[in-house]
Amino acid sequence: MKLKYFSHSSFQITTDSGLVLLIDPFLDDNPTSPVSSDQVGADFIVLTHAHGDHLGDGFKIAARTDPLFICVNELASYCSEKGFRAHNMHIGGSYAFDFGSLKFTIAHHGSMTPEGTYGGEPAGVVLSIDGKTLYHTGDTGLFYDMKLIGEMTSLDYMLVPIGDNFTMGIVDAVKAVELANPGIAIPMHYNTFPVIEADPQEFRKGVEAIGKQAVVMGFGDEIVL
Ligand code: NI
Ligand code: MN
Repeated sequence: MKLKYFSHSSFQITTDSGLVLLIDPFLDDNPTSPVSSDQVGADFIVLTHAHGDHLGDGFKIAARTDPLFICVNELASYCSEKGFRAHNMHIGGSYAFDFGSLKFTIAHHGSMTPEGTYGGEPAGVVLSIDGKTLYHTGDTGLFYDMKLIGEMTSLDYMLVPIGDNFTMGIVDAVKAVELANPGIAIPMHYNTFPVIEADPQEFRKGVEAIGKQAVVMGFGDEIVL
């Protein structure tokens, strides 16, 4: 599979069979995104929570490309109410989709839709695609059960917020990598706005100092996993 980073928490996964998943597609109002929403399409849109910088342009993209939204129950129902296809799940549950399997994990954060309604519990996701595993933590503070997530699934990649203020900062993010123990950590949710400015190289050095590996993806970069 290929992993493309649009900045913030927004990623595109293309499976070996050609299916396209978007995670938290925040593009048009994202000053750091190299693409606009009309330049991407999706077979699946995975949302970690309902905040505007994660739900993002999901509905705009869905109106053109009719993907299946995959979210926790309350947010999936919200997508359905808007007329889109959705698969309702919840934290702790996994399901085998055409692209591979997906499991929702806890995340310590909030989740409110742009209309001010409750979006359900915020979440992280563990994806198993084309023989690789990837943990996108969503927006979250540090929590010790990241160790459990890494014990239950041997993680190849972990996407970790480092921007502080709304999520973990660099020190907590390095600890998160120590706990979940992925093969490679990739920083996210930084430098989108002044309030979440952070140096991803500082994160990388911190991860290397605990004997782990980190890769800093540029905004727009795509790598083969
Ligand atoms: Ni959020
Ligand atoms: Mn966020």
